[in-house]
This record gives sequence, C-alpha cells and structure tokens, in this order.
Amino acid sequence: MKKKFEFEFEYLEEVHLLSSADAALLEAAKKATQTAFAPYSKFKVGAAALLSNGNIVIGSNQESASYPVGICAERALLNSIGSQYPNESILSMAISYSTDKAACNEPISPCGMCRQSLLDFENRYQAPIKIILAGKSGPIMLLDTAKDLLPFGFDGSILK
Ligand code: THU
Repeated sequence: MKKKFEFEFEYLEEVHLLSSADAALLEAAKKATQTAFAPYSKFKVGAAALLSNGNIVIGSNQESASYPVGICAERALLNSIGSQYPNESILSMAISYSTDKAACNEPISPCGMCRQSLLDFENRYQAPIKIILAGKSGPIMLLDTAKDLLPFGFDGSILK
C-alpha cells in the first residue's frame, strides 16, 4: 500500500494581499533582522510572533565564534517566549531575512531544528502556529500550522 502526504499553503504575490495583522507581524520580523548578530554568515534572520495576549515578540539569529553554538532567529524567539510568557500560546510567527549576498525577494523557510522546536511549541500549547514566510520583497507563503513543515515529526507522545 502506498500513502501520500500533502498539504496546502497560501502563496501571495503581493504584500498588500495580507491581512493587516499578518502584514504588521511581517513588518516586525523584517525590522527584527536589524537585531541579528551574524558577523560570520552575514545572513540576518528576523522572526516575530503574535501571542494569545496580543503581544508581538521578536527574535533574531545570534551567531557564535564557535559556529554550532549560534542560534537561529526562530528558536531564539521560541525560547524567549517560553521563558517570558510561559502561559501564552503562539498564534502566528512571521520570518524574514536580509543579506547583501542575495536579492531577498523569495521566502526562506525554517531549518530542521527550528521545525522541531515549532512543533514542540504547538504541542506544548495544543494550538497551531500560523507561519508567514517572506523576504524583504516578493511573494509570501502562509502555512496554517508549523506541523506541515515537519511531516512525521517526533512529537514526544511515546515518551509519556
Ligand atoms: N538561520 C536562521 O536564523 N533561521 C533560518 O530559518 C535559517 C538560518 C540563521 C542561522 C545562521 O546564523 C544564518 O542564518 C546562516 O545559516
């Protein structure tokens, strides 16, 4: 027997097609790239999350001279939310980036470790996190849940 996995996402050609709430979150993610510490890769990633209490929290990648010690924007943000707002669920997260090496007109999507961390937070709060992906300009991708980014992900339910 063969089984198939597929999911749908929204692909918007223009930023003005976003809802005002999503546009504001994306703007916060773009602004958050300015707080990145990326002297090694010169690739600045910004993330912004909308919490269930209405707060917008930002994060950015923080690199280390010992490269693997650095942390991506998404996990910097998630860990900060877990510490500062342990009782708020995350409604949505926008991710953007800035670099001189590319035009930044295509979305990027989170690395494998960040996908796991996003899944962990969805499970922790039992709430889907809407994902908004975009460059400085160009198309925007919208996913209903971070779970779609990690098919067959390990959710820890077997550990209970
Ligand atoms: N990075 C992120 O912060 N998020 C991603 O989704 C992809 C990669 C960071 C890690 C590193 O500091 C730099 O971008 C280049 O990989």
